[in-house]
This record gives sequence, structure tokens and C-alpha cells, in this order.
Amino acid sequence: MTFDTASISADAARQLRDFQARIAGIPYERKGVLFSEMFFLYLCAQRVAPRRVLESGRARGQSTLLLSVLFPDIPIVSLEHDPGSPDVAVANERLRGRERVDLRFGDATRILPAEVREGDVVLIDGPKGFRGLRLALRLLATGRPALVFVHDCGVGIAERSFLDRHVPGAIYSDSIEFARIARVLDATCWAGMPADRCFEGDRAPLAYGYGLACLPRNPAVPYRWLLVRAGIDGFLHRHSTAADAPQ
Ligand SMILES: C[S@@+](CC[C@H](N)C(=O)[O-])C[C@H]1O[C@@H](n2cnc3c(N)ncnc32)[C@H](O)[C@@H]1O
Repeated sequence: MTFDTASISADAARQLRDFQARIAGIPYERKGVLFSEMFFLYLCAQRVAPRRVLESGRARGQSTLLLSVLFPDIPIVSLEHDPGSPDVAVANERLRGRERVDLRFGDATRILPAEVREGDVVLIDGPKGFRGLRLALRLLATGRPALVFVHDCGVGIAERSFLDRHVPGAIYSDSIEFARIARVLDATCWAGMPADRCFEGDRAPLAYGYGLACLPRNPAVPYRWLLVRAGIDGFLHRHSTAADAPQ
């Protein structure tokens, strides 16, 4: 199964109206994955017919609610690290009565490598940065998930450069080709988005939104070796940004 931006964008054009109907009336919850990004996830995931969706990082449950609406027939397992956060009550209320959604607490970096099964799709939206990327690579190294999505991999950041250099086949929700079709879904999210990451007319930015990476499992990719590389690159990145910080 190949994934490319052109064919996902073609699917987006065909399915946009149906998708809009499915999410009609769902309000956007701050800190959440964008509607267009969830559309991207849905279009990629429908090609692999997932058995379950695992989520790392629930917060106020925007992505969790969308997952439960978009994949009503399969289990959704959602992990959140912080049981003491005020977000917990918001997520619980939003997800009340959704029987196929299993709301768990714990550190996904410890739980998911043992939990992930053949045919699962995984969404990582916390931990962030290289920790999230390393979790994705560790899961792919098990050979079990069909697809792993990593949020906040926008153009210009170190994690995106790492993916561009080392992970063949990765595609991204922030492509302008996809955004020209899908951005209409996000009209209620734009207030909180950086101005250089959204657009209304034809003058497109370099990239759109926060950047959701789709990493299809590829047996030819040496994920264990990449895990080591990501550990080194993450260490160097932390130290270079610490050195750049004002004293
Ligand atoms: C940006 S928020 C998630 C937003 C959510 N996906 C949505 O669309 O509404 C990130 C969340 O990840 C959680 N998180 C961070 N590290 C984690 C870990 N190791 N395991 C599980 N959750 C984690 C944080 O506590 C925070 O609630």
C-alpha cells in the first residue's frame, strides 16, 4: 500500500462533503488536533482498515471524540499521562456514553509498545518532540502497527527534518495541495492558529496547520537503528536550543 499526498488529496476532494456531514455540530476544543488533520488521518487510515486506534495524549479529548465518530465500529484506546489535569473532566464529559472508547491513564512510552497489536493505527499527540518521534519509531519497530501518526511535525522543525532525512514514505497533513481542499473544515480553529500557518485566499503559506505526519510501516526501514539516531539527534537538538536560549 503506497501513500502519497496527491492520491490522499484526490480522496479528500471526493469525501469532503461526507466528512463535513459526519462532524457537523462538533465544537472545536482548544489544544486539539485540527479537523483537517483528523480528516487526513481518516483518509490514510481507511486504506488499511484498522482493527483498533490507539491514542497517546488525550488532553480535552478533541482528537479522541473525532476518532470515536470516525471509527464507530472499532475500539479506541486513549492514553493520557496526567490524571490531575483540569482537562480530564472536560474529556470525560465530551466522551460520556462512547462505549468503544477506553479512557486510560499512564505513560504511553511505557504502555504502548506492549499494547500495540497487528493492524492497529496509532496517533501520538503527546509526548511531543523527539520523545514522541522515538515512541513512533519504537512502535513501528515492533512490526505491528499499520500506520503511526505524529502530531506537531511542522515544516522547519528538527523532528520534521529528521523524518525527511530518514523515514521514506512519510506524508504530511500540512501540504498546501491537501490544505486547499481541507482547510474549510477548520474555520472554527483559526483563531488559535499562528498566522503564518493558515490562509483564506489563494496566497498560501509555506505549510498549513500544525503538521500531522503519517508514517506507514515499511519492513525495509531500519526502525531500531533510526531509534538510536533519533536519540542522538534529540540530545544534540536539546543542547543546541539550550545553548541558543538567552542567559
Ligand atoms: C496537545 S495535548 C493532546 C490534545 C488532544 N490530542 C486533542 O486533540 O484534543 C497533549 C497531551 O499529551 C499528554 N502526554 C504527554 N506525554 C504523554 C505520555 N508520555 N503519555 C500519555 N500522554 C502524554 C499531555 O498530558 C497532554 O494532555
